[in-house]
Amino acid sequence: MAVSVMLDTQRTVARTRVPKFTQYRSGPVRKTLPEGRGAILGPMPRVIAMMNQKGGVGKTTSAVNLAAALAASGQRVCLIDLDPQAHMTLHVGLDPEAIECTVYDLFTDPTRSAAEAVVNVDERLDAIVSETDLAAAESELSQHSDRQRILAESFKSIEDRYDVVMIDCPPSLGVLTINALSMADEVLVPMQAHFLALQGVSKLLETVGLVCQSVNPGLEVTGIILCMHERHTNLAREVVEDLKTFFEESRGTDAPWRNCRVLEPPIRRNIKLAEAPSFGQTIFQYEPASHGATDYTALASFVIDGWNGTSDAAAPNEPPVVETEDQVVATDASSARKTS
Ligand SMILES: Nc1ncnc2c1ncn2[C@@H]1O[C@H](COP(=O)(O)OP(=O)(O)OP(=O)(O)O)[C@@H](O)[C@H]1O
Ligand SMILES: [Mg+2]
Repeated sequence: MAVSVMLDTQRTVARTRVPKFTQYRSGPVRKTLPEGRGAILGPMPRVIAMMNQKGGVGKTTSAVNLAAALAASGQRVCLIDLDPQAHMTLHVGLDPEAIECTVYDLFTDPTRSAAEAVVNVDERLDAIVSETDLAAAESELSQHSDRQRILAESFKSIEDRYDVVMIDCPPSLGVLTINALSMADEVLVPMQAHFLALQGVSKLLETVGLVCQSVNPGLEVTGIILCMHERHTNLAREVVEDLKTFFEESRGTDAPWRNCRVLEPPIRRNIKLAEAPSFGQTIFQYEPASHGATDYTALASFVIDGWNGTSDAAAPNEPPVVETEDQVVATDASSARKTS
């Protein structure tokens, strides 16, 4: 039964793919990394939207810990919390109530500048925090003529400070998420390998396609992050295969996901990742020896290699680790890399 439903959802993905997305232009200009250095050339940061309208899939966990891993590898990173739940804010140990200028102020008060909203949380890692008032922004901005680009315009004044901007999106497709997509170069999609998730990905791709048509033609979906992954299950294997097949079929088209890959390694289910937010710490501060830290470090390396265009990252992916709750069954060199 699961398989037949999965095939149906696969057809749903396929249906939304071809006819609607034929008019896309080529992707954004690539910002390449100098060999072996891990810093981005040029004045513009690479802006990543961590997006999935489905809740609880690992967006915030991935935004925080991938950002921290990128910062540890030498990138200057700014995290932006676009979720009124403010989970990203809390995860990095900040109290939204104690911070005078939040992302809500940037949306609603034209006199506030992005520089006022930046808070430093670690070496090379800054954050712009959220607060619950942000939930009201959707309605407050309804009359704003350029409401889809408020964040992008506000951030311009400080963009030369960073190599990477990581935006944690809310689990919805409203004006906040559209602001993230308007500003982003690329979308990373955290998801769990469950068959209904394919339908969610279909909807997400449709939304990205619409944003490409209207406000941000260069936007691309570049990666799927498998979160809380249980690779030993048949279901996970089948869903991952379906995803890979779907993206392989889009190569050479002009769809915004034509370069999308299932990123390596999958992030194993790891209780330390779930505990870290309650201490207001990244996984590298909380438990640097955990599988969670190992996986996000390896993921950051994979992402950077992809930006560099090195062959390892471009190769079809074979997951390097098998995960049970907290047990490594097999590993490879990349997943064994430690945080610097
Ligand atoms: N690899 C993992 N192993 C164990 N727990 C995890 C893992 N990744 C995320 N979690 C936990 O799963 C829950 C949901 O994760 P997270 O908050 O990152 O999802 P989200 O997509 O941001 O949710 P929302 O849609 O509500 O913003 C959290 O309690 C988080 O700590
Ligand atoms: Mg979240």
